[in-house]
Amino acid sequence: MSFGILWWCKLRDEVESLVVVAEVKRDLIGNVGLVDFVGWWLYYVIVAIGMVKVVKALIWLQFVGILWLIQTMQAVVQEMMTRATKDMELVHLFLAAAEEMDQQQFHLASQSIARCLWKASVTGLRPSVVVVCEVEANHNSPSFFNRSVDALFFYSVLFDCFEDCMDRENLVRKRIEVFHIGEGIRNIIAAEDAERFTRNVKLDVWRAYFARFGMVEMELSESSWYQANLISHGSSCSVQNDGKALLVVWKGTPIESVSIWKFL
Ligand SMILES: *[C@@H]1O[C@H](CO)[C@@H](O)[C@H](O)[C@H]1NC(C)=O
Repeated sequence: MSFGILWWCKLRDEVESLVVVAEVKRDLIGNVGLVDFVGWWLYYVIVAIGMVKVVKALIWLQFVGILWLIQTMQAVVQEMMTRATKDMELVHLFLAAAEEMDQQQFHLASQSIARCLWKASVTGLRPSVVVVCEVEANHNSPSFFNRSVDALFFYSVLFDCFEDCMDRENLVRKRIEVFHIGEGIRNIIAAEDAERFTRNVKLDVWRAYFARFGMVEMELSESSWYQANLISHGSSCSVQNDGKALLVVWKGTPIESVSIWKFL
């Protein structure tokens, strides 16, 4: 734009002087020659060209403006996408960690959590809390006898719970019993070494484990306690606290724990 205007101003000055000369001449002598007409003509042509230049410059400016706007918007969208992608990556890592924890593959889970923490620090993301729901049972004893007793107690409570809550003919119950509980029992009792992937441990083990990764346990809010009590009120299922965590208890036996962990 600056170029256009400068160009126009410069030419305008020169041609305007021609026009001034012609007009002065007309006033003085009343005789305007061909040269003066050419001067005028040239003046208007130059002004017109100048205007076109300015308009072009404006259009160009607008174009640049729109381009800038598009680029800015693209950058903003990109930033949002990147953030979302980073968030999703973190979520995926957590899900992977959860899956590995589910299968009690401590080694892989610890790697996943370490990756999560690293990713969170590198990308500047600050996940506030992680809610961990875990089976509250110890199915990881090296002793076959202890493991069998623990599994017996735990699964008898679970079967009792099913008996109270679901019909025996319920297809969902049958599936859960056959594919999940049955397989779980078999794996805990009969499998050894790497084949034994059901290795539940109790909350105290998880506590030590999370503390090692610099995570701090948080209190459950009063409203969540209140709601949990509302749901469990008057049934065989109840909630009780274990430190800051919540335990889901069936007829006095804890079966599930809920704890909240904050990154430092
Ligand atoms: C098995 O359980 C008993 C009683 O709870 C305990 O004293 C013992 O140390 C356990 N053995 C193993 C190998 O965990």
